[in-house]
Parts: sequence; C-alpha cells; structure tokens
Amino acid sequence: MRYVIGVDLGTSATKTILVDENGVIRASASESYPMYQPENGWAEQDPQDWKNAAVHTIQKVVKDSGAASEEVKGIGLSGQMHGLVMLDARNRLLRNSIIWCDQRAQAQVKEMLQILPEEKWMEITANPPLAGWTAAKILWVKENEPELYEKCRHIMLPKDYVRYSLTGKYAADVSDASGMQLLDVKHRIWSDEVLSALDIKRSLLGELYESQEVVGTLLPEMAEICGLTEDTVVVAGASDNACAAVGTGIVKDGQAFTSVGTSAIVYTHLSEYKAIPGGGLHLCCCAVPGCWHTMGGPQSAGLSVEWFREKFCQDLMQRAKEEGRNFFDLVNEMTANIPVGSDRLIYLPFLMGERTPHMNPWYRGGLIGLNVVHGQAHILRAIMEGVAYCLADCNNMLKDQGVDVNLMRVCGGGSRSPVWREIMASLFECSIHTLRQEEGPAYGAAILAGVGTGIYPSVQEACERFIEEKSVTEYDCKKAKQYKKYHEIYDRIYESLQSGLYDLYHIDG
Ligand code: XUL
Repeated sequence: MRYVIGVDLGTSATKTILVDENGVIRASASESYPMYQPENGWAEQDPQDWKNAAVHTIQKVVKDSGAASEEVKGIGLSGQMHGLVMLDARNRLLRNSIIWCDQRAQAQVKEMLQILPEEKWMEITANPPLAGWTAAKILWVKENEPELYEKCRHIMLPKDYVRYSLTGKYAADVSDASGMQLLDVKHRIWSDEVLSALDIKRSLLGELYESQEVVGTLLPEMAEICGLTEDTVVVAGASDNACAAVGTGIVKDGQAFTSVGTSAIVYTHLSEYKAIPGGGLHLCCCAVPGCWHTMGGPQSAGLSVEWFREKFCQDLMQRAKEEGRNFFDLVNEMTANIPVGSDRLIYLPFLMGERTPHMNPWYRGGLIGLNVVHGQAHILRAIMEGVAYCLADCNNMLKDQGVDVNLMRVCGGGSRSPVWREIMASLFECSIHTLRQEEGPAYGAAILAGVGTGIYPSVQEACERFIEEKSVTEYDCKKAKQYKKYHEIYDRIYESLQSGLYDLYHIDG
C-alpha cells in the first residue's frame, strides 16, 4: 500500500493526517501552540513551534498508522497565509513571525499606495495593498527593525518554513505566494516591478512552484526523526484556503465552500482569471494548475468564540469537564433555541480588524443591543450570526460580480455546529453540504502529495474519486426572511460605527 501525509499548519494548531492510496485516513494527530499579542492589533507566532508541531505530528501518524516508512511516498503542506518568516545568512530565525491577522502595518499600506497607484497593485497583485499581507509587513520590519532587516537573507511564508526545515529548499507555491502581494497573480510569477518598487531583493524569495509539484525530498536527519526515508518527497502544497478547496472538492467553476476556522472565508473556484474590482474580495492563484479563486470573510470567526470562551465561559468549561462532554456540544445545545437575531443582539466579528468586504484594519468588535435579558447563550449565538452576516456580505459581493455558485460546501471546526450551518444557510439562501472527510486543508494537502508522487493523475480526478458528501442543511425560508432584516441592520450598524471606531483606534495616549 502507498501512503501520503497532509500537514495543515493552522493558527491554533498543526493537524496532520496519513492517508492511504484509496483516500482513507489511517491516522491523525494535532499539536497546538500559542499566539502572542504584544499590542492591540498585533499577532505573532514562533516558527520553531510550527516546525516542532509538524515533526511531532508526522512522527505520530507514521507510528499510529503502522505504515512502513518506505510506503509513505510524499508529504503535502497547507499553511496559514500571509505570515512573515525571516532567516539570516546561517538560516537562523531573525524574529517571531508576524502572522496573517496582525494589523500593525497600516502606515506601510499608505506608503505602498504612494509608491504605486492602487490600479497598478490591482493589475499586478490582483488585490489592493493590505496591512495583513506579507509585503506591508516586510516594509514594517525594514522601517522599524532595520538592523534586523539588514541581516535578512530569506523571506518565506509559514508552511514554506516548515518545508524548508524538512527539505532544505527555499520555495513557495503560487497560491500562498498570492497572499504576499509580491506575485504577478495573473502570470503566476514573482513581480519584478513590485519587488523593485518596494526595494525587496528577489534573492530573498524562494523558487516558485505549482501546488502539486515536487520541491525536494526529506533531509537525512529529518527522515530519521520522522520515521520516514530520504526518498519521501515533499510537494509545494498550498495556502490553507486553497488546500481546503481541494480537500472539499471545490475545483470547478460554480463551486464554493465556506470554511469556519480561526478566521472564516467564503471561497469560489475560477477556471479563468477574473479581476475583482474594488478589492472587497481577495483574488489568488489556486492549487489547481492554471486556475484562481476568490475569497472573503471575517478574520475573527473561531477566534471570537475562543476569545469569549477563554474570557467569559469558565463555568461552562467546568460543566463540560464535569459532564465529560465537548464544550461546543454544550454551545450547540444552548444556542439552538435562542431566536433568530439572538433576541435583538448583533455581534460585529472584528476583534482583529477587517479586510473583506471592507478594508478597515482599525475596525474592532462590538456587541450591539445588549439588554439584561441577554446571557452567555445569546452572546454565543450572536457571535455565530455576526460571522455569518460578514460572510453573507462577501457572498453577495460575489453574486454582484456575476459569479454563479451552484454548490456550497463547508469545512473547519465551526462547520461541525448544526446551529452555525443553519444560520449560514439562511443568510446565504442556499443549502450547505458537509463532507465525510472533515479535515479540509490537511486532506487537500495529502491529495496534492498524492498527485505530486504520481499516485493520483490530477487534483480534480482525486477529488472526484474521494470527496463524499455527508449531510445537507437546507435553508429555511421563514428564517431567511427574518435574517434578511437583521442582516440589513448589521450592515447599517457597521457603517454608523466606522467613524467612532476609527477615532478610538487613533486616539492619542
Ligand atoms: C486568508 C487568511 C486566513 C489565514 C489563516 O487570507 O488570512 O484564512 O490563511 O487561516
């Protein structure tokens, strides 16, 4: 039997699976790590934690599956996007990674717009300059930590650092590289024009690959530690969202998925390049060669639930422990009977600022309409609804662009909640399909490894063969009508809080 491994480097944890050539998951493992927030709006992680988590989880799935080391043919990587990893001439980490949801580089976005006009950014990078994307972060380090930038010899994304650690190769794939804002997204090559405008040396960046392409094989010491052989290949892999598309079988026009993890996004496949004016949605290369995708959604989805759980749900966590139940099962039970609109309570899911559909990195979260009748359950449901209002805005934007969607699947931890699925179905006004393979990005990464090693003929064929639907959440017309009213009020509240939140962020002292 031949096997492949899919590693998904997420924000809360790395999840790894070992899949056999028939697409069956034989073992899985996960290891979590912290996120550091030294200031309001900043977010960092230690790349060493990612590397350790990848190695430990690979070791574990190999051991638990009982697969012989030579039967494991390849490894695919999926990664949280936009994070900045910097190495010096001796390949040592220069600092913690500034990760995707960090919003410190707002001044650098302004500078980028002075260096090149917005139309040029849209034409080359397919997106307007964004504080959370890698280029702005590079400029931030250049300006604020010049002695450190001076020493920098390699710039890479989170999963590319893990791949470098496994293979010794400096590489990037086109889907994840799209989120660096240094790529000519239409032509799938580094943009010399952007690099020279920002004065970033091309030599700092790795070699570019399509997602299923083989980048290298395991370094001898890595093969030994992981319990694998030096012949195990490592493919380029893709961004977590592009991998989730493969893992949910969204590889053709008209198909979309919504992923609800730390962040949430609604994603559509595009077999042809289609500029998205206005920048309200992101446009990136996808993991299917020669294809692209759109995506948009709130940065703080699962992150909002996590925040509320950690800060305000100690009692509920204790109850879950005592009853030997999962915290989220309790949440589903408690929120199922709260009425549509959480009894007139609206949550704005912007703990870490916003970029789609509105680019307001200084925007923050809110609970509007609070009353003494509201308790934990109302707030938890309001969080799910707030995330879904933002996703629905992005979905509507897609419709306005003339992108027709005839299939909506879901993945990510939040999609396991029947309550959350029902809310999304009502707001999207379409049915939502869950899958037997719930490991979205890790499964997609494993498929990419299978294609790269020649086990499967192509990404689309592997998806057709393995991805199976499990359930359908139909939308309820009555609830959809009620949600329309709440959604409209959410949009108005969003708008009317803008100037206050802008001033709050920029207040002096
Ligand atoms: C997408 C994005 C997130 C991260 C983390 O633009 O920033 O989805 O990839 O999951």
